[in-house]
Amino acid sequence: MASVDVVDVRKAYGSQEVIHGVSVDISDGEFVILVGPSGCGKSTLLRMIAGLEPITSGDIRIGERVVNDLPPKDRDIAMVFQSYALYPHKTVAENMGFALKMRHAPKAEIESRVRRAAEILDLVPYLGRYPRQLSGGQRQRVAMGRAIVRDPAVFLFDEPLSNLDAKLRVQMRAEIKELHQRLKTTTVYVTHDQVEAMTMADRIVVMHDGIVEQSGSPLELYDRPANVFVAGFIGSPAMNLLKGKIKLNGKASFVTDDGVDLPLSGAPKGSDGKPAIYGIRPEHFSLGAKDTIKAEVSVIEPTGSETQVFAKVGSQKIVGVFRERIAARPGEALPMVPDAKSVHLFDQESGLRLN
Ligand SMILES: Nc1ncnc2c1ncn2[C@@H]1O[C@H](COP(=O)(O)OP(=O)(O)OP(=O)(O)O)[C@@H](O)[C@H]1O
Ligand SMILES: [Mg+2]
Repeated sequence: MASVDVVDVRKAYGSQEVIHGVSVDISDGEFVILVGPSGCGKSTLLRMIAGLEPITSGDIRIGERVVNDLPPKDRDIAMVFQSYALYPHKTVAENMGFALKMRHAPKAEIESRVRRAAEILDLVPYLGRYPRQLSGGQRQRVAMGRAIVRDPAVFLFDEPLSNLDAKLRVQMRAEIKELHQRLKTTTVYVTHDQVEAMTMADRIVVMHDGIVEQSGSPLELYDRPANVFVAGFIGSPAMNLLKGKIKLNGKASFVTDDGVDLPLSGAPKGSDGKPAIYGIRPEHFSLGAKDTIKAEVSVIEPTGSETQVFAKVGSQKIVGVFRERIAARPGEALPMVPDAKSVHLFDQESGLRLN
C-alpha cells in the first residue's frame, strides 16, 4: 500500500491548459473520490496518476517515489475503467489471471490469487464462464477482480458504475466500500455523481474547470461548503441559493432582491449592505406561524416518507423537504421559515463563504 501525492500538477493539450495546478495528498489506505461536472478534468488527473497521460508540470509521488516518468506498469497501480474491457474469448478466471500470466507468475500462484479474488467478490461459481454469459454487475466484479488479483499499492477507478442500472449501482457502491474496508488499499475513485461520492468516500475532492474547489470529508463539505460552487454541487435536492443583501442595523437579517426578509443568526462585522448569497438546504425549513414568510407554492411532491415543496420567495425559486405531510395547493402561500443557525452566507462576487 502507498500514499499518493499530487503536487501542483498542470496539464496542457497543445496551448490549451485543462488542469491548472492541482494538489491532492492521499494518505496510505485512504478512499478518495474526485467529483465534479463533466469536463472538469477528473479523468485526466486520474490518468496522469496512472501514467497513461504525461503531466505538463508538477510532481506525482506514489509512496516515496516520484513517478512522473515511470510507465504505468512500473507504478504498482491497477485501474478499473467505465467500460470493463474484458477479453470476450477468455473465461472469467483467465481474464482475472491475465496480468499475472503476462508477468510469468507461476501457475499455482495465479490460480490461488484468482481463487482468493473470486471468493472476495462472490465470483467462484462463474470462474469458467465467458463475459457474455454474465450480467452487467458480474462483469463489473470481474473487472475489479482483475485489479485485486494484481494486489497493487493503489486502485484507480474511473466511473466504474456508470454502465449499471440504478439499483445495481447502489448495490455495487456498498460492495466497493466493503471491499475497501477489507483490503484497505489506497483508492482514488472518479465519479460525477455526488451521491456516490457522499456515500463511499473517506474524503471528497471537488473539482471544477481544472482546479480543486474544496477537499474534505463528505459531511465537512455538506455542512461547511467553502464556496457557492461546492454548496450547489453537494447535496440533493441542491441547496437553495438566494440573492440579496445583508442587513445589520438592529437584528441581523438578509433581504432578498425582491425585498423579502430572511432570518440570520449573525453576519460578519462591517457587512451591512453587502450583496451576498443566502444558502439554505431544503431540509432546513420549518413551517412557521402564518404570515412569517410567504412562499408561494408551485408544486408539492409527496414521496411517502417526506414531502418536497417547490415554491417561490419573491421571484426566486426554492425547494423545501419536510418530514411531515403538507396539504397546500399550488398558488397558496406557505410560511416556509429557514432555520437561522443553518444558513450559509457567500460573497456574491468571489463566491467565497462569509460565515
Ligand atoms: N486528448 C485531449 N485533447 C484535448 N483536450 C482534451 C483531451 N482529453 C481531454 N481533453 C479536455 O480536457 C478537459 C478535461 O477532460 P476530462 O476527460 O478529464 O473530464 P472529466 O472530468 O473526466 O469529464 P467526464 O465527467 O465527462 O468524464 C475537457 O475539457 C476535455 O475536453
Ligand atoms: Mg471522465
